[in-house]
Amino acid sequence: MYNKDAAGRGEIVFNGKAKCASCHVPPLFTEPGWNAHKPSDICIDDFQANRSPDKSYVTQGLKGLWSHMKGGFYHDGRFATLIDVVNHYNDCKKLSLTEEEKLDLIEYLKSI
Ligand code: HEC
Repeated sequence: MYNKDAAGRGEIVFNGKAKCASCHVPPLFTEPGWNAHKPSDICIDDFQANRSPDKSYVTQGLKGLWSHMKGGFYHDGRFATLIDVVNHYNDCKKLSLTEEEKLDLIEYLKSI
């Protein structure tokens, strides 16, 4: 279901330039211990977060992401596709990813 070469390149982007691994830590791709973030860490509004006791979001695990490709991503399904998620991070974190790096990253996400 994914391209192995692209996924391999995507892994390097995930751990390096795109800094995804700073929050989504392998092998579960969530954070060990304290994994709650302020909404501004990921450039989203705080409506939902304000309803959780500590006003923050918990980093979602990414393992097996491919198995729930329907219904959208993020806690409220606001992003319909993985390219929407990647573009969101690209803008939010000013990552300057190339189109090719984005596609490789998505192949990697599908592989984990
Ligand atoms: C600052 C910490 C942080 C960084 C950096 C980060 N994420 Fe996330 N990620 C989160 C949090 C928190 C959530 C849960 C957000 C929500 O539920 O609304 C999340 C959710 C996601 C989801 C949705 C999972 C699902 O099941 O809906 C995907 C996909 C994702 N991140 C991919 C990435 C990628 C790819 C990168 C690198 C470009 C990245 N993340 C960088 C914290 C981070």
